Amino acid sequence: MSSFPIVRPRRLRRTEALRRMVRETQLAVDDLIYPLFVVHGSSVRDEIPSIPDVFHLSVDQLAGEAGELVELGIPAVILFGLPAGKDELGSEAYDDDGIIQRAVREIKRAAPSLVTITDVCLCEYTSHGHCGAIVGDEVENDRTLPLLARTAVSHVAAGADVVAPSDMMDGRVGVIRRALDESGYPLTPIVAYSAKYASAFYGPFREAAGSAPRFGDRRAYQMDPPNAREALREIELDLAEGADIVMVKPALAYLDVIARARDRFAAPIAAYNVSGEYAMLKAAAANGWLDERRATLELLTGIKRAGADVIISYHAKAVARWLKGA
Ligand code: PBG
Repeated sequence: MSSFPIVRPRRLRRTEALRRMVRETQLAVDDLIYPLFVVHGSSVRDEIPSIPDVFHLSVDQLAGEAGELVELGIPAVILFGLPAGKDELGSEAYDDDGIIQRAVREIKRAAPSLVTITDVCLCEYTSHGHCGAIVGDEVENDRTLPLLARTAVSHVAAGADVVAPSDMMDGRVGVIRRALDESGYPLTPIVAYSAKYASAFYGPFREAAGSAPRFGDRRAYQMDPPNAREALREIELDLAEGADIVMVKPALAYLDVIARARDRFAAPIAAYNVSGEYAMLKAAAANGWLDERRATLELLTGIKRAGADVIISYHAKAVARWLKGA
């Protein structure tokens, strides 16, 4: 196959029109989910230092924010809450008047078309900062499951369109699926954080959500970064338990996992472009070391090219503006 000079790949790269015609991957605003951090109080709109251009918002700010997202064409949000108080079992997570439940009611009132996804986890709500109930020095899997199920049902009762368990307890997708079905919500989808790794790149989020563990770390429940076959197993189990969309998180150090999952499974795949990935880019851009727009579009397009159908990103609003040519 010594084809040169008959074959010249550069012929199709010569003009923007040609490049557009043969482009294999299109990043679209339809693919994006924007994270929101909701706090108690009123008139709160405080920029999060570790996640620049993203804000802690009180419930009264959500109608305006949701309106802006709809205007930009962003189809979905994922909600994280900062509770008024924390306790051993994270009780505000499943309080029908908790921060997320209030936020969901407000968003669905103000912007009914905006797909409202809730993160289902206990770490923001527990005094120890772990994602489940502690027995001794362990996060006890099976005691955590009913608390997660209660949280998910409470979110959906408040109006959530989709629930997204991020705790990494074994069996939680099945338990949540059954609880939703028994509560009259058989058509509410579950986005499972299936391959969620114990990553250093959650640092800025934990600062924003006040959810860093007070002792130890999450390595006994989140995945070990070197493992990819195990990710496929986690995804397979979550699909068998009724997950509708499966997630790989973080995205950038795990593009191989996204690609392998894409080859193996037909279900939609979500990728979480996490806080540390965003913070790195913002820091480099702030120093003038990277062109934020070009670098961000390149990274998100790469996540999509790897096989992700939807991307959760703190850059979603900026990307929506850039794609509109603004
Ligand atoms: C809750 C949760 C975390 C993130 C999403 N859901 C933090 C963690 O697992 O410690 C991280 C998101 C990000 O870094 O952007 N369990």
